[in-house]
Amino acid sequence: MSQHPRWYYNEFKQIGIDYTDLKVVQAYDLCMQKLRDIENEANSIRGLLNISDTDIVLEIGTGSGELALKLSAHCRKVVAIDISKIMIDFAKVKAESQKKTNIQFYNAGFLTYENCTEPFDAIVTQLALHHLPDYWKMMALRRVYGMLKEGGKFYLRDVVFPSMVQDYDSYFDEIITKLKESTGDELAKETEIHIREEFSTLDWIMEGLLKNVGFHIESVKSDGFIACYLCKK
Ligand SMILES: C[S@@+](CC[C@H](N)C(=O)[O-])C[C@H]1O[C@@H](n2cnc3c(N)ncnc32)[C@H](O)[C@@H]1O
Repeated sequence: MSQHPRWYYNEFKQIGIDYTDLKVVQAYDLCMQKLRDIENEANSIRGLLNISDTDIVLEIGTGSGELALKLSAHCRKVVAIDISKIMIDFAKVKAESQKKTNIQFYNAGFLTYENCTEPFDAIVTQLALHHLPDYWKMMALRRVYGMLKEGGKFYLRDVVFPSMVQDYDSYFDEIITKLKESTGDELAKETEIHIREEFSTLDWIMEGLLKNVGFHIESVKSDGFIACYLCKK
């Protein structure tokens, strides 16, 4: 592992929700299985990234590993990384129980993972980049760009705030109220923590960062709060 200067960002420090707590990890996994159609998500991401069975794919911030598990059925290898060792161990157990042998798990993140083999055909990250402040997002995206092969695709999905909002107080209040009604108190509370303590940025900043590091943005989709960027090197 390369030596970083003392001012380098410590990405292992937990920001907002603590994903080094096993109970939080178990609850997160259950909640996501309930709220998300992960099979559908994985199929759509696979299509967007054109993943084929000879490809090597990197997933950054894999969490409990659901996407990595699904993608691994359609490519040569998935490298799944996360700064939470508890998340990685949790995902590893799942992979073992499903007899998935082509996923490599590493306890590392955007700013610390060193790829020692060939460049990746595709890189994906969901709901993880917002853990870094904006300058470090740019450093992270430069590293992503560097680890991709020429013409390779990068799929980024994250909480990104729209800039066309006049009244952010009402905007966030409405999101939290709707979440409370549809999913209950827990996710609404986590969203409050997210807005208050995590580093979600604005749409124009995210697009600027992606372009600045050299990506061509092929498409952007946003439902207001969560944005998906399909990028090409
Ligand atoms: C909200 S969860 C998302 C997990 C998964 N990608 C999903 O879509 O369900 C955020 C994950 O990002 C991880 N994470 C936070 N900062 C990170 C970083 N700098 N590099 C890699 N992963 C990070 C956390 O440990 C956590 O597992």
